[in-house]
Amino acid sequence: MRIVLVGPPGAGKGTQAVRLAEKLRVPHISTGDLFRANISQQTELGKLAKSYIDAGNLVPDEVTIAMVKDRIEQPDAVGGFLLDGFPRNVQQAEALDQLLETKGIKLDAVLVLEVPEDEVVKRIAGRRICRNDSSHVFHVTYSPPKKEGVCDICGGELYQREDDSEETVRTRLEVYHTQTEPIIAYYKAQGLVVTISSLGPVDKITQRALKALKRDDA
Ligand code: AP5
Ligand code: MG
Repeated sequence: MRIVLVGPPGAGKGTQAVRLAEKLRVPHISTGDLFRANISQQTELGKLAKSYIDAGNLVPDEVTIAMVKDRIEQPDAVGGFLLDGFPRNVQQAEALDQLLETKGIKLDAVLVLEVPEDEVVKRIAGRRICRNDSSHVFHVTYSPPKKEGVCDICGGELYQREDDSEETVRTRLEVYHTQTEPIIAYYKAQGLVVTISSLGPVDKITQRALKALKRDDA
């Protein structure tokens, strides 16, 4: 399956993507995680992306689209993928459509995670992620690690993302409303959108998502 996950910052995209990717046997491709890996490896792409990410703004389309194209063309993504955090504006959605069209493939669904803004703020404030791999995500109260400050999955150090400060979160939410939300209408016109609530226990939301994708047998 080829799926795009959409939702505001802190909606639980990464949390759900890890579970859904495992169930659906497709790679989880998070542009945020790809940028963070580049930042920690101090690549040229990482250096460029950092200033945009720290300010809560989108990294320019040109580099983002090139990065996704390269990732989608890896052998593990030939049979399908779960995109988390891309596309994030209509230009990126159009570029993805064009890219898939050249390969004769199409998206199967766009899964929108809905969550009220006050909940998003609480989720982001308590989020801790792993230095080794930013897809290892915890929350100080909602999903605490067994040992404080230590990743359950790999033993790495947990830290708070720099863009999770209150001020940057405000910018990220505004960017979401103005630039990312319009892609929902874009995909609705293609009949691809399924919307679920991202409130409640994590496993329940995964079940809800699989049901909405008509893959509750997975
Ligand atoms: P990105 O990393 O994609 O950040 P985001 O979209 O702001 O989303 P988050 O990762 O903050 O939230 P999430 O929905 O994944 O929530 P999570 O599962 O962690 O992007 C970061 C930056 O990179 C962007 O601002 C931009 O600069 C750049 N970028 C990325 N993609 C780009 C693109 N395409 N174009 C240009 N620039 C791009 O959950 C949040 C917390 O809640 C966690 O602590 C979790 O444990 C907890 N939680 C999850 N589910 C539940 C639940 N059901 N109940 C209680 N707590 C929960
Ligand atoms: Mg995420």
